[in-house]
Amino acid sequence: MESILRTENLKVSYGVIQALKGITINVPKGKITAILGANGGGKSTLLKTISGIVTETSGDIIYLDQSLRKVAPEKRTQKGIIHVPEGRQIFGELTVFENLMIGAFTVKKGTVPFTQLTATLKKATADQDTTERVLTKKQIIANNLEKVFTYFPVLKERADQMAITLSGGEQQMLAIGRALMGTPKLLILDEPSLGLAPLIVQSIFKILQELNQTGISILIVEQNALQTLKIADYGYVIQIGQMVKEGPAQTLLKDPALIEAYLGK
Ligand SMILES: Nc1ncnc2c1ncn2[C@@H]1O[C@H](COP(=O)(O)OP(=O)(O)OP(=O)(O)O)[C@@H](O)[C@H]1O
Ligand SMILES: [Mg+2]
Repeated sequence: MESILRTENLKVSYGVIQALKGITINVPKGKITAILGANGGGKSTLLKTISGIVTETSGDIIYLDQSLRKVAPEKRTQKGIIHVPEGRQIFGELTVFENLMIGAFTVKKGTVPFTQLTATLKKATADQDTTERVLTKKQIIANNLEKVFTYFPVLKERADQMAITLSGGEQQMLAIGRALMGTPKLLILDEPSLGLAPLIVQSIFKILQELNQTGISILIVEQNALQTLKIADYGYVIQIGQMVKEGPAQTLLKDPALIEAYLGK
């Protein structure tokens, strides 16, 4: 299967603590890949290393056939690796709209797959190719904003409100919306369900599936293993920095040891 990103024997240390002890994963293009595991296993460290906030001590990360070792974090974002961090990290004193525009900082003019265009832009660029279209920076930002407001109408309603006034679920939507403003090719999410009511989690996961269907590859870290495996194609389980299990999501869902450890049955 064609890969959008893979890690090769990735090792990461914080001083004397070795948080990743050689992690090799493959994230196939167009799929949803899940990273599961208990607290402190190194899940967030893996995502931070992929987005470049943390630097590996050895090993490599290959994105679209290129090593990321010498690629700065903001360049990774520009190339389409967009990280929705643990705890959302939105700017509470800024408005919803301002938070969204921060996510558009790295946008440059370029090509956008037809499946990711809103009806407005499909029409406006009807003379162009039907697989992808060349857009200006302004058009891309407008397209992304319209998409975010379609997926999350509540963000449109509250566009001028300070982000701190949003509920937890709405803040998570804003964090995902902000990521979408940067035109992700690979969306990486760190525990998007944390602290949210089951119904909100369901609606957010449904949107992740819809985003995936427009061609965005997804790498998701979750402690909510059951719900995550239901939307994922493939899963990895990390424990104290090591890979202990991997397999197709459907297989992991039936794995007795995994059920006992993480699925709470
Ligand atoms: N900045 C840091 N400095 C020192 N140690 C750190 C730092 N960040 C993480 N660690 C340690 O690295 C290990 C892995 O942490 P990490 O946050 O990646 O785990 P996690 O799987 O995301 O956990 P959780 O499920 O609680 O979010 C832990 O032992 C943690 O204490
Ligand atoms: Mg974490």
